[in-house]
Amino acid sequence: MAVDVLLGLQWGDEGKGKIVDVLTPNYDVVARFQGGPNAGHTLEFNGIKHVLHTIPSGIFRDGTINIVGNGVVIDPVTLKKEVDALLKMNVEVSNKLFISRKAHLIIPSHRLLDAASESMKGKEKIGSTLRGIGPSYMDKTGRNGLRVGDIEAADFMDRYRKLADKHIDLLKNMDFVYNLEELEPVWFEGIEAMKKLNFVDSEHLIHQYMKDGKNILAEGAQGSLLDIDFGSYPFVTSSNTITAGACTGLGIAPGKIGRVFGIFKAYATRVGSGPFPSELNDETGEAIRKAGNEFGATTGRPRRCGWIDLPALRYAIMLNGVTDLIMTKPDVLSGFDKISVCTHYHYHGKKIDYMPFDIVNADVKPVLEERKGWKENLSGIDAESKFPKELSDYIQYIESQLNVPVTIVSVGPDRNQTIVRKNS
Ligand code: GDP
Ligand code: IMO
Ligand code: MG
Repeated sequence: MAVDVLLGLQWGDEGKGKIVDVLTPNYDVVARFQGGPNAGHTLEFNGIKHVLHTIPSGIFRDGTINIVGNGVVIDPVTLKKEVDALLKMNVEVSNKLFISRKAHLIIPSHRLLDAASESMKGKEKIGSTLRGIGPSYMDKTGRNGLRVGDIEAADFMDRYRKLADKHIDLLKNMDFVYNLEELEPVWFEGIEAMKKLNFVDSEHLIHQYMKDGKNILAEGAQGSLLDIDFGSYPFVTSSNTITAGACTGLGIAPGKIGRVFGIFKAYATRVGSGPFPSELNDETGEAIRKAGNEFGATTGRPRRCGWIDLPALRYAIMLNGVTDLIMTKPDVLSGFDKISVCTHYHYHGKKIDYMPFDIVNADVKPVLEERKGWKENLSGIDAESKFPKELSDYIQYIESQLNVPVTIVSVGPDRNQTIVRKNS
């Protein structure tokens, strides 16, 4: 069987957690392939709201296997908290959560290095979630990292100390006050808790599932515009967030990728620093933030808000090979008289319809097209036929601009507030 992929087409927080949870009954296996505790994936059902950081969003459905793949970086402290929170909700993970031995570990000094690096950057800081993501991927590519499988090695403590000492040497040269001893005990508690989980050679496990004809969904974290290669560098995360990341982050050959679900909000948000051409620094942006409750699921920071950006979406669709679009949060725009769409950019005196190399330093201004908004509250809508005409027009317009069908529309945070479109 092919492996389907679901990933974000914007700057993250598109609603991946919710939609993975909705789609999970169609899948035997859900697997995270990159990122780490910088992610915050929110699920809502039966009046419960839950945020996952490391564990795949298929964990609440009985009978689905959840895999944390080799491309993920794991902080044992966060993972322990997540497992404990699930146990409190009577979600037993021992029979359905599997962790790749090849996934890298975030150690406490990675978090310190992240914070030190950001504080030294001053105004140019990335706006990192400070979860140690950048430093741990640096140690991975620098061939210094510690992996989950190393926990089983007799000399794990020596290896840990060697890496931590290396970080201490680096921190000595940075203008940053820290206390590593304070962070270590809880990290080692996390390691002890991890030992009770199932460590696997996930690439083999996934291939066995594929051979057995199981349906597998790969769950992306962050968004395509935060991709290390194709995002608004250097204001990006440190992994490949695009479909190709599912190949390397799980060990799947490119030809085995099936459907690619590209998820986007009916508007756009970004948290942290970096360019955002269609950003609204006015009361409309404020109104979207308020209506959409746009505050980070991991850090609580207010998300910057703006209009949907078609050149950026087109770029993300191209990079990912998106077969199906999923729109979330159109309900947030209810009551806006006019909604705008960024169709092009003004760039070096020209009107262009693609994302240029430099959107960080160059002056990139959005070209906006206004459309009529819808008044109706969408949150109780249970069928496409009940959509206000303006919303149907908006969806059709986006499809015609992007040449990919919108197959699912989400009209609220709850699992049930999801509409699969008739012709999909
Ligand atoms: P993720 O990182 O892509 O999983 O997204 P987040 O969980 O960080 O952020 C999405 C937020 O929007 C969460 O608070 C969700 O509960 C919420 N959400 C998801 N879909 C919808 C929707 O269609 N309408 C509304 N109003 N909220 C939604
Ligand atoms: P989910 O999976 C939104 C952003 C940070 C920062 C940049 C680098 O919930 O969509 P990092 O901690 O990775 O070094 O931060 O990337 N960022 C996210 N923004 N959603 C996320 O994940 C994000 N993960 C990282 O705000 O700008
Ligand atoms: Mg999120």
